[in-house]
Amino acid sequence: MKKLHRIYFCIVALGLCLCANAQKTIVTVNEFEGKDIISRDIYGHFLEHLGHCIYDGLWVGEKSSIPNVNGVRKDILDAMKEIKVPNLRWPGGCFADKYHWKDGIGPKESRPTMVNTPWSGLPEDNSFGTHEFLNMCEYVGTEPYISVNVGSSTVQEIAQWIEYMTFDGKSPMADLRRENGRDKPWKVKFIGIGNETWACGGNMTAEHYADVCRQYSTFMKSYSGNRLYKIGVGAGSTDYNWTEVLMRNASNFINGLSIHYYTIGNGRALEFDDEKYYQTMQRGYDIENIITNHSTIMDKYDPAKRVGLMVDEWGLLHTVEEGTDPILLYQQNCMRDAILAGMTLNIFNNHCDRVRMGNIAQFVNVVQSLFLTKDEKMIKTPTYHIFDMYKVHQDATLLPSNVITEKINQQTPEVVVSSSKNANGEINISFVNVNLTKDNEIDCILTSDSQYKANGGQILVSKDIHDHNSFEKPDEVKNAPFNNYSIRNNRLTFTLPAMSIVTICLK
Ligand code: AHR
Repeated sequence: MKKLHRIYFCIVALGLCLCANAQKTIVTVNEFEGKDIISRDIYGHFLEHLGHCIYDGLWVGEKSSIPNVNGVRKDILDAMKEIKVPNLRWPGGCFADKYHWKDGIGPKESRPTMVNTPWSGLPEDNSFGTHEFLNMCEYVGTEPYISVNVGSSTVQEIAQWIEYMTFDGKSPMADLRRENGRDKPWKVKFIGIGNETWACGGNMTAEHYADVCRQYSTFMKSYSGNRLYKIGVGAGSTDYNWTEVLMRNASNFINGLSIHYYTIGNGRALEFDDEKYYQTMQRGYDIENIITNHSTIMDKYDPAKRVGLMVDEWGLLHTVEEGTDPILLYQQNCMRDAILAGMTLNIFNNHCDRVRMGNIAQFVNVVQSLFLTKDEKMIKTPTYHIFDMYKVHQDATLLPSNVITEKINQQTPEVVVSSSKNANGEINISFVNVNLTKDNEIDCILTSDSQYKANGGQILVSKDIHDHNSFEKPDEVKNAPFNNYSIRNNRLTFTLPAMSIVTICLK
């Protein structure tokens, strides 16, 4: 059976090569080779005290007339449950290495107002602090991911924060938590040991940070059945030396090592032509090589792949919207952002043997957000709809796929694919067509001992690549059911429309 499929694949591949003008893509998905799990944490998010991400974004306060649960917008909480947000990173970003947690506990009226120095010097009144964040995570059922301050704190301050959040017994910090109204500790799994310590987090060298990381990690204790998963600060995009040094000097002290990669756009979110679009897509696709290169270094020190590669900041960074403060990073979000998100998540899925986490930046009103808010109004961006369509891959087994497709400008693959099988025996395959004008005929062979049948699907597509949601038209771009495909003898065929994202479910 396996052999027959291989022969078929070669014949069709040859056909594709002989017929260079046809937009045709051949995919093989191999069920026999499925072994690695796509961690749900690849679908994580990021909340920072930056611009209107928290204040005037997610957080409206308990007294607001906007429906809320303990001060957090109810519409966003409901949507978080809908897309199964697996983890949420907080409080930064660059803000993390300025944050002193004791400023954000206790009665609101006695919390100090600080200056948010990393982000425009706006006042930070600390009304959203540890209790507000952790209670929200608990309500939604998402793992908190706390990036602690190593740039301007002490080891003792951070050790106490962990004790405050997670210790069940009697101790000064656990008692302080109880005084502040929370008896039982929270579960806190992910702890980030600083943020971008090569820049805003302290401008350290890799060697210096490796020592700092070892030191902080030593005093971060797992209390009362709570198991910490410690994440060291990793490289900014292509700084491979940083990964080398951290893996060599500190990998025994961490469970994960991060990287940050932003795709730099070309001007404003809605102002671009075809050329700029393809340039952006190529920069976005560069993350494939960047992950491969960091993984190769990690393999050298950790062939068993114990340490996860955590892409805990990624996204498409545009010039801010006209009339907004450049440092607050507010941008719109259109079909281009959705295509980049689908492509990136396919790449993460395909690298799930090493990539264990992703956190798109950022959740609300900042960079490539899922939500934009304006007073009582909230809209879901096209990027939100990708997370909705892709939630089916969370914790499913990756089915390796092989894709023969044309390249745009001899660089970016026209079609990017990932595939997985979940615990219910369903196979979900996500296809992204990067081409702006040409549909693509998909011929996908599934190598399996079982016979699969159609079981629904979803599509995100729009007439124009600039299409987006606005407060006036909140549902202009939205995913819709997709059944326009056929599957016979495990051969799936359909037309993948230009600039679309499709997830097909087979059972
Ligand atoms: O997402 C905005 C900022 O980008 C983060 O605070 C920082 O970590 C990165 O440089």
